[in-house]
Amino acid sequence: MSQQNREQWGTRAGFLLAAIGSAVGLGNIWRFPYVAYDNGGGAFLVPYLVALLTAGIPLLILEYAVGHRYRASPPAAFRRLARPAESLGWWQVGICFVIAVYYAVIVAWAVRYAGFSVTQAWGGDTESFLYGDFLNVADAPGAIGSYNAGILIPLVIIWIVVLVVLALGVRRGIEWANRIFIPLLAVLFLILVVQALFLDGAEIGLNAFFTPDWSAITDGSVWVAAYGQIFFTLSVGFGIMITYASYLRRKSDLPGSALVAGFANSSFELLAGIGVFATLGFMATAAGVPIGEVATSGLGLAFVVFPQIINSIPVAPALFGLLFFVSLVVAGLTSLISIVEVVISSVRDRTGMRRLPAVLTVGGFTAVVSIAVFPTDQGLYLLDAVDHFINQYGIALAALVIVVVLSWLLRRLPALRRHLDTYSSVPLRVWWAVTLGVITPIVLGWMMWDSLSAELAENYEGYPTWFLSSAGWGVAIGVIVVAVLIALIPWKRRAGDDDDSNATVAAADDSGRGQ
Ligand code: ALA
Repeated sequence: MSQQNREQWGTRAGFLLAAIGSAVGLGNIWRFPYVAYDNGGGAFLVPYLVALLTAGIPLLILEYAVGHRYRASPPAAFRRLARPAESLGWWQVGICFVIAVYYAVIVAWAVRYAGFSVTQAWGGDTESFLYGDFLNVADAPGAIGSYNAGILIPLVIIWIVVLVVLALGVRRGIEWANRIFIPLLAVLFLILVVQALFLDGAEIGLNAFFTPDWSAITDGSVWVAAYGQIFFTLSVGFGIMITYASYLRRKSDLPGSALVAGFANSSFELLAGIGVFATLGFMATAAGVPIGEVATSGLGLAFVVFPQIINSIPVAPALFGLLFFVSLVVAGLTSLISIVEVVISSVRDRTGMRRLPAVLTVGGFTAVVSIAVFPTDQGLYLLDAVDHFINQYGIALAALVIVVVLSWLLRRLPALRRHLDTYSSVPLRVWWAVTLGVITPIVLGWMMWDSLSAELAENYEGYPTWFLSSAGWGVAIGVIVVAVLIALIPWKRRAGDDDDSNATVAAADDSGRGQ
């Protein structure tokens, strides 16, 4: 795919919907409410907003700038920026591959749970149902012992939908899918939140969520949690925004788009917090316990607590369940599409492959790994370890290295800022370079130090060391090694392969070629 005939979004709105679709994902619906509650409730919104403005939006703008200026997916974009930087791009591709293989599995669970919610098939003991009847989890990490056919069918369907959308291309596939899914998600979620607000005890949940515990903002770990949440939720550090911005027209207002996508994502996040806490308030009131006892994170919240709540909802429980799980599926699908597109686009830029063969081979391979490994009795352990390590030592570490390399080693921020300012409605001031060059590296460096110390003090979740060395550290480090090796393979020289010192990119900039 040369720069000149690169695919493009049909409209700016189409690009924005796709960017919002990527950002709004599983993390918004169950991760944000719990993280906020656990880190000071209403007071968490202060570090959250500071993190959004000082790291999230500046990094989003940086990824847009790299993708748009170099008109390529991460490896080729970084290579054009400076040849040795190509491996940074492959690192992001590896991260996306790893996330895609397990993210799809959670979406597949949500599909099954949407079905279960019609009759509340999970019964009274939703915890035993999830881990026993549904996932059939082994007693401890070990060799794969059995395969879970119940997850296989929804997982295959999810992968078929993702690959068909990707095969249809940027405009007819990704853009159209988001044009349908994002408004649908907004409507479903609004109905869900309104239904939640009418539940008995909703106000107790909202009070818990919004009552600020101001002492929390003097606690360093609350700030670390806020920055962590912002990276995850905005999809920065994955290379997704580099890829999506590479399909933009030459004359694009990038900072303006980043602001719209960032604030839309946070608005959705806040709405999710309101809906989830109103629902938890209902459960706490019904059980006569404090809200802290029912607020739990991650899988527990979505697949154990929500089914329990649905069991006791007096009016239209099936509708409530369907709205919740279908919202999870839709939010997850649009994020998954964006994650897999990074891998496909990068291989295409590298090999010149056409879209369909790339989707069938690269996308097909990703799907096969996902389908072969995760619907097993070891699936939950693998998912948990891989997710933790690839988030900490993949996304966040890659973001830290990229920011330091671009701002301090290559000193490319001034050139990128000039590029951004060309069509921007709001010129970027010095704050952009200061936040990226100073604040983001300090906070990310601190986060890295904080989590590494915890990691070395005790094994994550008490898992055995052999397991963490392979499924945790092994995967995170393996991705880096593979990225460096791929970047060492020589490129056949083609137009547009040159680095920033070459006139190709600058000429494309000036002439507006490819619009
Ligand atoms: N940003 C996506 C999410 O929140 C990955 O799930």
